[in-house]
Amino acid sequence: MHSYEEIFEYNKKWIAQKKATDKDFFTHLAEGQNPNYLYIGCSDSRATAEELMGANPGDVFVHRNIANIISNVDLNVMSVIVYAVNHLKVKHIVVCGHYFCGGVKAAMQPQDLGLLNPWLRNVRDVYRLHKEELNNIKDEEKRYMRLVELNVEEQCINAIKTAAVQKTYLTTGYPLVHGWVFNVKNGELIDLKINFVEKLKGIQEIYNLGNSE
Ligand code: CO
Repeated sequence: MHSYEEIFEYNKKWIAQKKATDKDFFTHLAEGQNPNYLYIGCSDSRATAEELMGANPGDVFVHRNIANIISNVDLNVMSVIVYAVNHLKVKHIVVCGHYFCGGVKAAMQPQDLGLLNPWLRNVRDVYRLHKEELNNIKDEEKRYMRLVELNVEEQCINAIKTAAVQKTYLTTGYPLVHGWVFNVKNGELIDLKINFVEKLKGIQEIYNLGNSE
């Protein structure tokens, strides 16, 4: 990593590099954004969004928080989803978790974590929903990895619960919601192959917001 001062030196080199490949790079960038992807991932410094996807500026609308949570009452992530779906008209929403996630690990410890309690309770709720499956996994590391995957799946469901996603999908066929896990041990990106249509059908009995009065 560059030292603090070197960051600005690096930035100058980066500008020159971009202009050398495409002299109008920043002119185009200033014209606006039209990303196809909304990426919701963990704040963990190892699980970057753009780099692991091979994405360039303008390609991905990004939201990151501890343990990639889509909380129904978090105005921040809800605003990001509504803006990305209704205004940017993204085609794909990706929820990307990662193995060895500190937030998920902390949620697995039954102890008071102060201000982090209400946030990590979202992950603890995922554990409760899938307690039977998780408690049957005797190996602690495997159980931890499975909770990371189940957390991604549940956060995908939280995205599908939103009116913005349901309404837009029913009229345009987009956005599709995907669940990924990044393995920090080997760099692999895993598609959990969440069945979006089936998940939507499954939750519509209770969370059908596709029609408004
Ligand atoms: Co994490």
